[in-house]
Amino acid sequence: MEAERSDDADGVRPRATIDLDHHSSDYQRRWREISDANVTGCPVAYTPAHGGTWVVSGYEPLVEALRDHSTFSSFYDHSDPDSPMRGTSNPPTPYLNVPQELDPPEFFTYRRLLNPTLSPEQSRRREPFIRQVTAACLDRVTPTGRADLVDALTNPVPAIVTMSVLGIPLADFERYAQPVHLMVYSPPGTPDAARAVTALSEMTGLIAQLVGQRRVDPADDLISVLATATDDDGVPLPLDHVIAACGLVIAGGVDTTTALVSHALHWLYRNPAERDRLAADPTLIPDAVEEFLRVLAPVQFMSRTATRDVELGGQRIAAGERVMLAFAAANRDPAAFDCPTEVRLDRTPNRHVAFGSGIHRCVGSHLAKVQAVVMLEEVLRRIPDYVVDEERLRPYPSIRAINGYINLPTTFTPSPAVGATFPE
Ligand code: HEM
Repeated sequence: MEAERSDDADGVRPRATIDLDHHSSDYQRRWREISDANVTGCPVAYTPAHGGTWVVSGYEPLVEALRDHSTFSSFYDHSDPDSPMRGTSNPPTPYLNVPQELDPPEFFTYRRLLNPTLSPEQSRRREPFIRQVTAACLDRVTPTGRADLVDALTNPVPAIVTMSVLGIPLADFERYAQPVHLMVYSPPGTPDAARAVTALSEMTGLIAQLVGQRRVDPADDLISVLATATDDDGVPLPLDHVIAACGLVIAGGVDTTTALVSHALHWLYRNPAERDRLAADPTLIPDAVEEFLRVLAPVQFMSRTATRDVELGGQRIAAGERVMLAFAAANRDPAAFDCPTEVRLDRTPNRHVAFGSGIHRCVGSHLAKVQAVVMLEEVLRRIPDYVVDEERLRPYPSIRAINGYINLPTTFTPSPAVGATFPE
């Protein structure tokens, strides 16, 4: 190691720098090309964009950082505006994200409350509900022969499922999904980003009312689990943290799965032989979803702050510096995946990091996968010949973390509704 760093007078390797602005339209258009160049050329490098951050693109250093959560901290210190601890978003969000922006031991208090509701078994148990919502969404459009599949399907299904997990009236889903939507695709500093902040604070008010209600009159839902939980001394958990945990389940649950399935549907349109193969044999869909997670990268980045001077991938990162973990790039690392740029729908093994890794690995991953499989199954069964109007297709203008589509305009052979109704 010493010899490797001896190319500078002081024995420290010069800092590798890149010019990466992940909010730019250039990155949005060329993220695959840029990621591939970073993975092979500079797997750990510094970019001056957005106040300066390290970008970790190599699979091995990325997993190393995710697993060393005390050195690469997720913590956001809202109490001190001068603290370097700025959480997991770049730029940081102005609100609390619980448990994502907590470190242990406080982190585990909340994560343990979320795990049972979102376990593999509980997620599978929700499959009939998810299928009913999917069928009802498709019923609204199949007779017409045309649909924006984001508006009609990939947006409402995850939103309604997330509402039902939390115990929020299903009919209100747009009041919660819209602010999150606006936040994830508005470039920082734009009027839309400002509108998103206002809309999110209104949403927080709505959640606060529900948490207050469930504290006195609990039901069988996740808001009640969080609202009635106490610490080791029997004291209820702080209200702002409980509200933030509900808010993060909404943020995590709503746009991520939307982005995954929208991209998957577009990719299948572009690859009709693969679409026909999945339509003919739906048992192939679960493995295909894993590959879509790897190559379509719905969540591209999450950040950390270094809590001490540390070496990662041959680079010296100083205490207090920001570190951005590029999941999308790591999923294309030839050191970790055979022919990574090829989409192989039956790829095994497939140890992608689309859900992260380590203690903060996505708590909703099981629920996300059940939803993705059901939505793809139902689309391929009911409207297998859909055609995407690529002229009108609009991707998110900016990738804060999520890489999605604003719309997915399609036409297809009309077919009658099957009579599915939305659950109450
Ligand atoms: C395709 C869908 C999804 C993708 C790609 C995704 C991706 C991720 C990633 C990469 C993380 C790790 C963040 C970090 O390390 O800082 C994460 C965390 C999280 N996700 Fe997901 N997610 C998805 C769906 C969901 C769903 C459906 C829910 C809830 C219903 C959810 C809730 C959360 C929460 C609460 C966290 C924070 C976990 C913690 O800090 O312990 N996600 N997600």
